[in-house]
Amino acid sequence: TRVGVLISGTGTNLQALIEQARRPSSCAEIVVVISNRPGVQGLKRASMAGIQTRVVDHKLYGSRAEFDGTIDRVLEEFGVELVCLAGFMRILTGTFVKKWTGKLLNIHPSLLPSFKGVNAQKQALQAGVRVTGCTVHFVAEEVDAGAIVVQEPVPVLAHDTEESLSDRIREAEHRAFPTALELVAGGSVQLGDDGHILWKTQN
Ligand code: GRF
Repeated sequence: TRVGVLISGTGTNLQALIEQARRPSSCAEIVVVISNRPGVQGLKRASMAGIQTRVVDHKLYGSRAEFDGTIDRVLEEFGVELVCLAGFMRILTGTFVKKWTGKLLNIHPSLLPSFKGVNAQKQALQAGVRVTGCTVHFVAEEVDAGAIVVQEPVPVLAHDTEESLSDRIREAEHRAFPTALELVAGGSVQLGDDGHILWKTQN
């Protein structure tokens, strides 16, 4: 499966996906990495891995629709079949999400539906939960609300700060996202017409 990865920054999740796609057993081939911000470390990671990169700088577009339209054109140019949002910090328009429904995965640093939105790690600390985690889900029009593919629990420790907890969650992300990528790229899991996960029985 031809995979496009969208990033905005460091790209540690991208790095985990690159390493997963390199495995001989992988069903995924990352064919392009697109960043909405120039010069970020994630772009260097892609180039080091020999993957083509594009920058689509959201500041250069007058509207979300035009920005999303350019992203869409790049994905089509590379024949992308599955899109992974790996630390991508933009909200995509309904038109884009509709077109890529069932082919768009996102990672969120909490056990959805708990702690949607930004600073999910901080929300968990403030709520006093003893277990949080990360979620890989299909992107739906409602933010952080699509069908869940993979989750991994992460303990909250007594002296955790937002940073120490985020680091521990990110380690889980680097396992969860590659697992979800293979499930979807390999056809074990797809998004059903009812918006729920459909596990394909492998005949
Ligand atoms: C991660 O913390 C992830 O939970 C969130 O964005 C951050 C991106 O990290 N979606 P990286 O760019 O993949 O290192």
